Amino acid sequence: MLKIAHLIFESPFVLAPLAGYTNLPFRLLCRKYGAALCVSEMISCHGLVYREPNTLRMLASVEAERPVSFQLFGADPEVMADAAEIMASYGPDLIDINMGCPAKKVTKRGAGAALMTTPELAENIIKKVVQRVRIPVTVKIRSGKDLCSINAVGFARMAEDNGAAAITVHPRTWAQGFGGTIDPDVIAQVKKAVTIPVIGNGDVLSLQDGHRMMETTGCDGVMIGRGALGNPWIFRQDQRPEDSREIAATAREHLRLIEEFLSAERMLGFIKSQMCRYFRDFPGSSGERRKIFAMPTLQELRDYIDACGSRDLPIS
Ligand SMILES: Cc1cc2nc3c(=O)[nH]c(=O)nc-3n(C[C@H](O)[C@H](O)[C@H](O)COP(=O)(O)O)c2cc1C
Repeated sequence: MLKIAHLIFESPFVLAPLAGYTNLPFRLLCRKYGAALCVSEMISCHGLVYREPNTLRMLASVEAERPVSFQLFGADPEVMADAAEIMASYGPDLIDINMGCPAKKVTKRGAGAALMTTPELAENIIKKVVQRVRIPVTVKIRSGKDLCSINAVGFARMAEDNGAAAITVHPRTWAQGFGGTIDPDVIAQVKKAVTIPVIGNGDVLSLQDGHRMMETTGCDGVMIGRGALGNPWIFRQDQRPEDSREIAATAREHLRLIEEFLSAERMLGFIKSQMCRYFRDFPGSSGERRKIFAMPTLQELRDYIDACGSRDLPIS
């Protein structure tokens, strides 16, 4: 059973932070389909302390999605602590610190995966954030900078020593980005080295993959990212439905949640790309996706998905 500090989770499966995706509507959907915990998109510490409206909007949450974790990124310990305090005032159950993102716009300022090359700075950040908030603070890391400098084990021990309540390990290096394969052995080594819960992450595309990761590495939980996009059923035992009407109904539900919680009219492009993911397994799906992308209005998209919901298409 996955337990982080005082929090006991219904299952070991966690929705990963995915910038541009794990907003409130998608988190709610994944919680409904069985994710035990969902992590927000990464949220900038500077955006929070400057109270930028777009950043503050990312803190939207509702009781129904709890427990929820908000993820913070940045590289300045004082600013991170101030931002964590602001974040905590919005009521998440946990705060996660991003020490694994390889995106240039994050690492060029020393944040994300770059922090694995500056462990003293990372230590200071974890210590200050933990001291500032009363909720558990977790840390998400990679294996290390590159294959010649794998330091996840020492880094995880450092995080534990500074008060981290759990650690997520995506066992690729910063240099690997999202290429190559994960090295589950790194998760196993971290698990052996710390007493806090360890969540394994990377390339999990089914619950079976996740159970295998727990068996082979001993990790306490599994975080799923890309495998959940257009596929919230991944968190359910019975997996993706065979019935196209059921798939369309879930896409419609996702769209309804987006309309309820986000400024949907201004997000048509984003919504189309989300919806396409649900329709990827339909026969002739590339033609269907083209149709979706050509739709000029939200209303047409709604009508299209409703129509899919009333047609019974065989799914390849
Ligand atoms: C589009 C995208 C956005 C991501 N955004 C974040 C993020 O905001 N914070 C973070 O820690 N990791 C982020 N990641 C990394 C994922 O959380 C996860 O570690 C990675 O995708 C491996 O897991 P997966 O194979 O299950 O997708 C992102 C990955 C992708 C593909």
